[in-house]
Amino acid sequence: MNLYKYVSEKINEKLGFEAKLEIPRNREFGDFSTNAAMVMARSAGKNPRELAGNILPKIQELDFVESASVAGPGFINLKIRDDFLWNAAESAADVTPAEKPMVIDMDYGAYNVAKSLHIGHLRTSIVGDTFNRIAKCLGHKTFSWNHIGDWGKPMGLVIAWIERLHPELPYFQDNFDSKTPVDYEIDEKELNTYYPAASAFAKENPEFQLRAQKIKADFQSGHPGYFALYEKFLAVSLRTMNNTVNRLNILPFDYDLGERNAANYLAPVEKILREKNMIYENAGAQIIDVKRDDDNKPMPPYMWRDSRGADTYDSTDLAAVYCRKKTDNPDKIIYFTDLRQSLHFEQLFRVADMSGIYPYDKFEHIGYGTVNGADGKPFKTRDGSAAGLDDILDVANDAVKARITEFDKKLDDETIKIIALAAVKFNDLLHDVKSDYIFDPSQITSFEGRTGPYVLYTAVRLNSVLRRAGEFTKSKNAKLESDERNLIMELLDFDRTVQSAFDSRATDLVANYTYDLCQLINTFYHNCPILREDIPADTRATRLTLVQIATDVLTKALDLMGLKIPKEM
Ligand code: ARG
Repeated sequence: MNLYKYVSEKINEKLGFEAKLEIPRNREFGDFSTNAAMVMARSAGKNPRELAGNILPKIQELDFVESASVAGPGFINLKIRDDFLWNAAESAADVTPAEKPMVIDMDYGAYNVAKSLHIGHLRTSIVGDTFNRIAKCLGHKTFSWNHIGDWGKPMGLVIAWIERLHPELPYFQDNFDSKTPVDYEIDEKELNTYYPAASAFAKENPEFQLRAQKIKADFQSGHPGYFALYEKFLAVSLRTMNNTVNRLNILPFDYDLGERNAANYLAPVEKILREKNMIYENAGAQIIDVKRDDDNKPMPPYMWRDSRGADTYDSTDLAAVYCRKKTDNPDKIIYFTDLRQSLHFEQLFRVADMSGIYPYDKFEHIGYGTVNGADGKPFKTRDGSAAGLDDILDVANDAVKARITEFDKKLDDETIKIIALAAVKFNDLLHDVKSDYIFDPSQITSFEGRTGPYVLYTAVRLNSVLRRAGEFTKSKNAKLESDERNLIMELLDFDRTVQSAFDSRATDLVANYTYDLCQLINTFYHNCPILREDIPADTRATRLTLVQIATDVLTKALDLMGLKIPKEM
């Protein structure tokens, strides 16, 4: 139930006029405030306060209005009837479905084969997943695409590196037979060292560099030995990706299909581009011009094929669009990557549009900022190396453990993991996507303040009240005390929050709403005793009813962020 929208529409209907409803900062003045009289007066050349006085009776006639009064230069403040709030509260956790459900392809995660998942993949996973959950909850049909980096330069380097280490392996022999099993296993940790090692080595050794490039080209044109080896380490990487997806508690991807899959669609795409004369040659490379006359910043050409004839990040991304159009025919394609890829996506959207493959205005790129350490530079592990995704979660785990020892609490490992993950995810979601933030393990694991542990603790507390209360008959005491009333008003703002988070692509609205809600829940909990013996039965029932509604809303909000609620804390 979107109370704001309901009230707003009813007032507009009554006045026959589109006015904006405000939520006053100080609720003492009313639950809502409208500037209708002021806007109407301006166009009619009348005195706003006088006009407000004239339309006041109309507002008072509305059945949900308890009282209304004119304030300031001509605002009308109104208070909603308690019994109306009670009735509305029953559906507080229900989110109004989108009027026009869309099919949305979401590209996030997008991990790389033979490269460990790093801190740069944290936000794409968390924000992408939350946005996916929000869209689903509004009734949109979404498809998540894990556009795996499984085709480009790193493949050539890794294969070349393995060749250097084990030239005797059958994969590198001319008589390689894909049917004969090869006795060779790679372990994940080792695999993740290959790409950095090979890439550093290639910088010093032009010969190795050339070898890797040659291997990449042969691999892309289907060299059976390289392909079989690739399949081997691909499997290892996919297992790592899956572990991470589980550890992050994000929804399973609808498609684990990335660059390699997209490469299957290069031919039809190239045909379209050639027909439209979009590709031309420059210094041996095949490129596409994407400049526009009104560009006020440099707009380099799109690289269709590099000077060695290899497929590129650019070409596979365009082919992926073509594939998605054939597969899901989405109304929108939304990418979640680091802000620094903005130029790439601007180019992609232009090429897709110019070629008629997919229109520019149906694309969106949600670029996120960097996760920094206390020094303001990208977060590093204690030994100074770039932090892996697992490192982040481990650090948070340790910080939670330290807190618990400090409080002299005992919690099992599973609970600690749930809390640590909530700390990381909630903190991430609190921030505006575009901005950088500082990752401070001690701050984000605090049990007080705007943190994951705080919101989980609130949920655990509500569950515990309901458990201790046992069965109860729902009751709606018409008269609300102020802390109860504030809580109900916030609960009735859940639907609106989810709608705005989707409309403005701002997942932080949900996180911040959740925190505000928890604060009101805790104030209510402290000021309005529930199970205490001296509390009359009807008051207890009313308050338990409120606890139940708050639990429903909070649980839903936490679920939108992929946060689990522990049994105890
Ligand atoms: N694999 C890339 C990386 O790790 C991100 C890919 C994003 N998605 C895309 N369609 N380009 O940085």
